[in-house]
Amino acid sequence: METVVSGIRPTGMVHLGNYLGAIRNFVRLQDDPLYKTFFFIADYHSLTTHADAQGLNDKVISALAIYLGCGLDPDKAVIYIQSHLPQIPELYLLFNMLAYKGELEKVPTFKEKVRSQEQRGQSINAGLLTYPVLMAVDIVIHRAHKVPVGKDQESHLEITRNLANRFNHLYGNGVPFFPEPYAFNYGEALVKVPSLDGTGKMSKSAENPGSAIYLLDEDEVIRKKVMKAVSDSGPTVPNQEKPEVIQNLFDMLSLASAPDTVQYFEEQYNNCTIRYGDLKKQLAQDMIQLVTPVRNQIKAYLHNKELLAKIARRGAEAARESAEATLQGAKKLVGMHYYL
Ligand code: ADP
Ligand code: TRP
Repeated sequence: METVVSGIRPTGMVHLGNYLGAIRNFVRLQDDPLYKTFFFIADYHSLTTHADAQGLNDKVISALAIYLGCGLDPDKAVIYIQSHLPQIPELYLLFNMLAYKGELEKVPTFKEKVRSQEQRGQSINAGLLTYPVLMAVDIVIHRAHKVPVGKDQESHLEITRNLANRFNHLYGNGVPFFPEPYAFNYGEALVKVPSLDGTGKMSKSAENPGSAIYLLDEDEVIRKKVMKAVSDSGPTVPNQEKPEVIQNLFDMLSLASAPDTVQYFEEQYNNCTIRYGDLKKQLAQDMIQLVTPVRNQIKAYLHNKELLAKIARRGAEAARESAEATLQGAKKLVGMHYYL
């Protein structure tokens, strides 16, 4: 059986893009008997950029409720909070000895952060530089093979493979201790949920909060956001190619609505009779249907802190057991077995 690990940073708001592009994939993986799955909340990683103690606490709790509300099931997957595993910082220390400053400075996500933080006059902490080392440890701590993540994480997976291979080469005595993990999606084209303001992808860091549908948005909020989505004055020539903003509306329609609904509006577009107001009304309705049950589940979990705590404890226990086996194996290979 192959091992799957993935995590998300607890940033508070989770939108439809995170759900359809990432978490829904986690749910499919946990249901697949081919895989042993670990899903966690990367709270240490969020400290690279935030320092808000109460905010962190709330965000971790809501991230857990969101995982569960989206369908992750503690009977099927190991669901835990990163900082509940003391083995993570311990292996992170060992892996920091394997990581080169030069290779970390070349990571595109680091360069991007340096650019944006320096622009704002903020300094760059060492945790930001070693973010990929910590992420590598999250993955190798369970000796994972597959990591369901978006394209933006590819460079971190590359570092993970380099560090795992370096460890194997230095300490493995010819036997690879850590497998080479690869980014993974379910054999389909990666889902990209577009932003409602017409350009780019739906994102929680977007300037305009109206451009994303959050899983906790109420029906009326969703309806308003969708009705305000950017469109244009409509096609003038039959079978005309769709401009980006219109393609985005159709992309969302194919994610949220039934195939015959998509077909219906395609035909109307192609014969130039389409009214975008009707399309948006339908899209809003279908998005509400998609989001409402998830939102209700999330809220139910948020109202049951005891259950959340129980699930977190259970996950931590199972994850620690797996992590401890790896850590002890790794320390032994490094030469830390003194029998004292
Ligand atoms: P954000 O871009 O909103 O900050 P993250 O970078 O934290 O989101 O991404 C968390 C997960 O959600 C990743 O696996 C990422 O690929 C996925 N994801 C984020 N936005 C979208 C989107 N608009 N469409 C599809 N998947 C997305
Ligand atoms: N870096 C990931 C992100 O920003 C979050 C993350 C941290 C992660 N550790 C991980 C993802 C381990 C997969 C596996 O989305």
